[in-house]
Amino acid sequence: MSLKFQTVTGMKDLFETELAYFAKIEKLCQNMADFYGFQKIQTPILEQTELFEKGTGLTTDIVEKEMYSLRTKGGDGLTLRPEWTPAIARAYLQHGLSAWPKPVKLWYLGPCFRHERPQAGRLRQFHQFGFEFLGVQDPMIDALTIQIFYNILKGLGFRNLVVDLNSIGCGACRPYFKKTLNNYLKSRQSSLCADCRVRLKKNPLRVLDCKEEKCEPVKKGAPQMIDHLCKDCHDHFKPLLEYLDELNLSYNLNPYLVRGLDYYTKTVFEIREDTPEGAAQGALAGGGRYDGLVKMLGGKDTPACGAAAGVERIINLLKGDKTFSPKNPEDNEGTAEVFLAQVGDLAKRKALKLLEELRVAKVKVGEGLHKDSLGNQMRLADKMQAKYVLILGQKEALDDEIIIREMKSGSQKNVPLSKVVQEIKKRL
Ligand code: HAM
Repeated sequence: MSLKFQTVTGMKDLFETELAYFAKIEKLCQNMADFYGFQKIQTPILEQTELFEKGTGLTTDIVEKEMYSLRTKGGDGLTLRPEWTPAIARAYLQHGLSAWPKPVKLWYLGPCFRHERPQAGRLRQFHQFGFEFLGVQDPMIDALTIQIFYNILKGLGFRNLVVDLNSIGCGACRPYFKKTLNNYLKSRQSSLCADCRVRLKKNPLRVLDCKEEKCEPVKKGAPQMIDHLCKDCHDHFKPLLEYLDELNLSYNLNPYLVRGLDYYTKTVFEIREDTPEGAAQGALAGGGRYDGLVKMLGGKDTPACGAAAGVERIINLLKGDKTFSPKNPEDNEGTAEVFLAQVGDLAKRKALKLLEELRVAKVKVGEGLHKDSLGNQMRLADKMQAKYVLILGQKEALDDEIIIREMKSGSQKNVPLSKVVQEIKKRL
């Protein structure tokens, strides 16, 4: 049957099976945040379009092709957040967070929107969690950022994590490198894919992370940023590697990692699961240093470093498959100490009241209020491993009584309805 109304392409309904993973991920993030002293932040999902144009960068795929932008009746240009970092920098400025002790540490979890071609690991509405440090230049902060994400992913059960790491320099050295790279690529233009020929004009660095086979030989011979870092960038990268060695956190120096966002300076990294399934999903987390972003948005020079991870990509790998199968609600009943069964209309009404009394008395109770047959309710009680079943039949409901049945022995006893909570508390 084709339904008229369905979720928009690339966006999903989330059921308990997936939300349970969300809760687990959020808990791990919260633990990490508590340990390192991060404060949680929620920013509005809608921001001024210009924030992302300026922050994420006009020539990035996100701003060029992927933003969900709208114009309000009042004429404001707004955009559904495609990523959090510019919003974090905006909040930092707007609320004067530069007055807080440094580094300012913020973390978040929530939806993002990118109009990408939906495929494995790529949704149009997805969720990110992220950790951001603002106000400190020390490469130890970069090492900590990587460690936080690595440990959260490890804590979730990933065993084949690879950290790809690179430095893409800064405003002082990157322009020179870009020129060198440009000269090299221009002389080999005909060997590049069509996309890269366009990239060459806009941002030659992006040619380096092209995944097309055709571009591989050109990439292999290309000059590498790491050999063209200025002293400042070099002096930042070297101790970062030493910190990571100290932490026993192994990394893969990847000269082709440039990341697709304009604000990065110096360190960039991504973490992926090195399995065929992991490769299909793409990076689980990505980030780096963005020392120029706050200034670009109108603030003072503010070094910063952070990263974000994609919740759905993580869940897809944890679930071991990419197809979402909601749990059968019958499998979802869990266990209960006591099961409340009822037969007939009057009993159902009285059962509803008794259920509330049991809840208040903190008895873990299962119920079959949606089932009419006693047989089905008893089967459910069995499945939930209830010790006692309270049976409210038509006769009992009229007599204001209830049957307490002990499941193991099968012994039964009638007690007044007004005493049953007390009696059951005594027996448990
Ligand atoms: P990003 O690499 O664009 O970085 O996104 C981070 C993560 O979000 C990715 O590694 C991926 O797991 C997930 N992700 C991105 N796009 C999608 C999508 N279409 N569907 C599903 N998951 C996706 C940023 O967004 C930066 N703001 C990270 C950062 C924070 N850098 C510094 N601070």
